[in-house]
Amino acid sequence: MATRRFLITAGLPYSNGRLHVGHIAGAYLPADIYVRYLRATGAEVCYVCGSDDNGVAAVKTAREQGRSVEELTAFFNASQRASFCGLGIEFDIFGGTHQPEFVELHEKISREFFLTIHAKDYFTKRTTKQLYDTEAEQFLPDRFVKGTCPHCKSANAFGDQCEDCGKSLDALELIDPISTMSDSRPEPRETIHWYLRLDQLQDRLRTWLESKRDTWRSTVVNFALGQMAPDEGGLRERAMTRDLDWGVPVPLDDPDAAGKVLYVWFDAPIGYISFTAKLCADRGEGWEAYERWWKSPDCKIVNFIGEDNTIFHAVTFPAMLLATHDSDSIQGAPGEFQLPANVVANSFLNIKFPGKEEEKISKSRGTAVWIEDYLETFEADPLRYYLTANAPESQRVAFDFDDFVTRNNTELLNALGNFFNRTMTFVHKYFDGKVPPSGTREPVDTEQLDRCKAAVAAVGDELERCRFKAALAKVMQLARDANGYFDATAPFRSRKTDMEACGRAINVCLQTARTLTTLMAPFLPVSARKCITMLRLDDSALAWSGATDPLADGTALGEPQLLFKKLDPKELFGE
Ligand code: MF3
Ligand code: ZN
Repeated sequence: MATRRFLITAGLPYSNGRLHVGHIAGAYLPADIYVRYLRATGAEVCYVCGSDDNGVAAVKTAREQGRSVEELTAFFNASQRASFCGLGIEFDIFGGTHQPEFVELHEKISREFFLTIHAKDYFTKRTTKQLYDTEAEQFLPDRFVKGTCPHCKSANAFGDQCEDCGKSLDALELIDPISTMSDSRPEPRETIHWYLRLDQLQDRLRTWLESKRDTWRSTVVNFALGQMAPDEGGLRERAMTRDLDWGVPVPLDDPDAAGKVLYVWFDAPIGYISFTAKLCADRGEGWEAYERWWKSPDCKIVNFIGEDNTIFHAVTFPAMLLATHDSDSIQGAPGEFQLPANVVANSFLNIKFPGKEEEKISKSRGTAVWIEDYLETFEADPLRYYLTANAPESQRVAFDFDDFVTRNNTELLNALGNFFNRTMTFVHKYFDGKVPPSGTREPVDTEQLDRCKAAVAAVGDELERCRFKAALAKVMQLARDANGYFDATAPFRSRKTDMEACGRAINVCLQTARTLTTLMAPFLPVSARKCITMLRLDDSALAWSGATDPLADGTALGEPQLLFKKLDPKELFGE
């Protein structure tokens, strides 16, 4: 069978802040699990991420903190990189759309992308009115204007959205607008921008999305198709340029383009491509080798994102890719940019502190669990476990501190950790640390081994469909069954009466431990590594196809190691 190939992306985090548990649960962890699983099946995988440095978010934070945008984005790029690393989230490359090593290639590819779409006539150049700050002498990005909401009359409205009623706004509709740059009253002025003709791409997008109904999460397909509903007027053109001095300059030889940059949502997804190109260059293949990942129908592209990114990954970015095509093949002909095979979106995570109500994660209110803080006290796996077992796959869920502790102590520790611990301790105590003979197996033994085989297939099946929570539940079920088998065969009793029966049971426990090692690895890579050491295996034990390969009778095993620690709610973040 030909090797399967996948290019996996996780949404580029804005480099104007640290990462919290919501980010991890939304995109990076599920993508990492998927990548680890795919590799275990022998697939060739490229896992790409990096920071989203351009756009107003970074400019605004830099102004507020009195630092340069370059310094700010470099700082948070490094901070995010460290957080990912601490959680065992391993990208093949972690770039940044404005980081010194990446910016040149990123701008080159973004420019070419824009020019291709321009040459294919998918942009309309349009004059519109926008608020201009006469003191700061610049057009104001929507987020830089405050004012009174025309709908609910709250004074808490920004140029893009009202914070109170949540309605999305046009900055020009705000009553009594104030520039947050200078506190002065801005005035409407004419400006020129390039709009992507989403209306013209809509039919092809719809056909493409309809073909994904059976394979994608329905939330994603329905949301994207909903944007095209005729009663809403369908997709409208969207401006792909901005009046800003931070970003990728608009690459047109047109005086009207002077001083303008590409819209951040235009260049950011191209970051996936430019970082892939940088990876290819670093590997000595030449940057153009990115085409092998992006323009080849036999490579599957899968984007992992948080739900608020759905429109950009299921509509806008695919539209941009389509707009570069010559052929009318919707997925993309060989040599053309391929549309994603899947867009996997998770919901947001709320947070629930002990004794308090569930609430939204908020930077400003300090209601978040920052990864840097978490990693000061804990290992990666308990968080990876909790955020997967309690993943916001189909709806919002809360990161609940009490639940985090309880699940660690009952599920990880009592079920999975305990099974390894009792098995390994037993082997060392009564079998000289060697795999006891399998002997003549009885039905109870083969049933347990059959459960192992069935779990390998079932967990793989869930993972193929990106159902991470269900997949992990099946791994944990096998751990509980393993404890059930241990209790039922009671080697702790038979060792006094029937050493052969005792060895037979421990042999099956070890075979089960072998299977669990492979199955837990995508979710709990740190613990899987400990299991590999205990069972004296090597990295080849990660291969899914070998998950039930027998441990030979008499094999010498390593020392027992504790996989998990009991957590005390009191030590959690000084509570
Ligand atoms: N920076 C965006 C966010 O955090 C995500 C960008 S994803 C990309 O919401 F595709 F545009 F890169
Ligand atoms: Zn309002």
